Amino acid sequence: MFTATLLPRDSTKTPAIPDDLFEAINQLKKDLNAVILAHYYQDPDIQDIADYIGDSLGLSRQAANTNADVIVFAGVHFMAETAKILNPHKQVLLPDLEAGCSLADSCPPDAFAEFKAAHPDHLVISYINCSARIKAMSDIICTSSNAVKIVSAIPEDQPIIFAPDRNLGRYVMEQTGRDLVLWEGSCIVHENFSEKKIVQLQIEHPDAQILAHPECEPPVLRHANYIGSTSALLKYAQSSSTDSFIVATEPGIIHQMQKQTPNKRFIPAPPMNSCACNECPHMRLNTLEKLYLAMKNRAPEITLPEDIRIAALKPIQRMLEMSA
Ligand code: 13P
Ligand code: SF4
Repeated sequence: MFTATLLPRDSTKTPAIPDDLFEAINQLKKDLNAVILAHYYQDPDIQDIADYIGDSLGLSRQAANTNADVIVFAGVHFMAETAKILNPHKQVLLPDLEAGCSLADSCPPDAFAEFKAAHPDHLVISYINCSARIKAMSDIICTSSNAVKIVSAIPEDQPIIFAPDRNLGRYVMEQTGRDLVLWEGSCIVHENFSEKKIVQLQIEHPDAQILAHPECEPPVLRHANYIGSTSALLKYAQSSSTDSFIVATEPGIIHQMQKQTPNKRFIPAPPMNSCACNECPHMRLNTLEKLYLAMKNRAPEITLPEDIRIAALKPIQRMLEMSA
């Protein structure tokens, strides 16, 4: 039974943090009839308490089909926003409202509107890593799981704008042989892997295969044995007969890789410098404590103007239909 009305919606007082956060979050989950959806790049403890862990496509599908009254989105803003676009009558909570995405930020709506106007007659296919306003200007949304399939389904004579990730766009061009007009956006995490250090690592681990997300730059992708979305990389690592891998995507996914195959070795691909910049600074803003507080306070909550939501819903629904 949904008992959310018994809880304060947005307390100004910060509740005490319980000693056992797992137990407290599980209790709140029952009280709120909430579901916790988490991306693979979240901290391991968040992944462990989630009801569903997935890539952007899997998370969108879960959000589209949930019976929960409250969706707690352990991911970044565009992901929670997508859940809200699909569920206008549900409450969607994001543990830290500042958890954005450099790739989504690299495509400001006004500049994109001009770009689109400069390419009339082009179909706009946008990667889900973009704001609701960009989605509202798009014809079809895609994720790294279905981008190749969606572009391939468009008639050859139809010109296409692909936004905002130029690296995924280039990869789709290679895979489909299609000429796409690319928006020059990129992800600060995936553009920062060092080709030189990856090559050195492979010399040290000659049996290791390189797994890479298509958001990586071409010099890194060139060395990859397998390129795919987070869930595709996970599946490949599990089913491959290889025992060690160099992983060129956010290292949060290694938690699931290691859980699925404890006897295999997963080595995070190193960034250009010695910082922890292969961790997504946006994803990592979410913590178990903030997740608890978001559920307790029922805030921060995702809201968006209804006209934008309706316009953004259409291309998301097209994606879900085309990748069913
Ligand atoms: P996936 O859809 O592969 O999970 O990618 C999401 C993302 O943000 C990659 O940086
Ligand atoms: Fe955005 Fe890159 Fe973080 Fe993915 S890893 S959420 S694309 S900043």
